[in-house]
Amino acid sequence: MRLNIAIDGPAGAGKSTIAKAVASALGILYLDTGAMYRAMALKALRNGICPSDPASVLPLLEGTEIFARNIEGTQHTYLDGEDVSEGIRTQEVAQAASDISAIPAVRMKLAEAQRNVARENDVVMDGREIGSYVLPETPYKFYITASLPTRAGRRLRELQDRGQGEGRSLELIEQEIAQRDYNDAHRAFAPLVQLPEAILVDTTDLTIPEAVEAVLRHLPAGKGGN
Ligand code: DC
Repeated sequence: MRLNIAIDGPAGAGKSTIAKAVASALGILYLDTGAMYRAMALKALRNGICPSDPASVLPLLEGTEIFARNIEGTQHTYLDGEDVSEGIRTQEVAQAASDISAIPAVRMKLAEAQRNVARENDVVMDGREIGSYVLPETPYKFYITASLPTRAGRRLRELQDRGQGEGRSLELIEQEIAQRDYNDAHRAFAPLVQLPEAILVDTTDLTIPEAVEAVLRHLPAGKGGN
């Protein structure tokens, strides 16, 4: 039986930071599923295709290959053989990823790839619907959240660290995140949901180590011990 851990929650809650640290503490793989949606969105944008229009996206989907590879502990995401790990980290791509992820065929294709990773590896996955749709059988489900101003503040710092913070106000980022959360939670197919069985971790007032500990205490010790 593989150890599969599902971490879901809204944008900017700290999911990827926590998921990465949990995976490293357990000595298992981490898979950032959002990066895969972002890669698909990047392809649509590069081809001048509207990411919310299924009729335009579907023909593009067939010939697209997206996979993630772990290189020295860091996830690299490949789009048709090209490493797009950097290029997918923009606000434009984030919004397009939210739009494109509402198309069921996109979700089915990427979810299948994610399930294959889970079948072959012990893995921590973060996303929006990992516990409800990608890995519904796993007993290890977490919902990580934080207040909207906290999440927007973290996103702004992240952008600033990448040199992309210029001209971005906290208010604007709050609006963008709220819009994306609404999109992700209101799509018809496999939306972001807080499952009753998922363990809730609100990171608003937690440090990163505290949040990681709040997750680890519900998990069996992994290959690396904890
Ligand atoms: O986690 P992120 O910001 O990289 O995700 C980008 C978008 O991709 C997010 O707004 C919704 C979508 N997504 C999804 O629908 N399901 C996932 N498992 C991961 C991301």
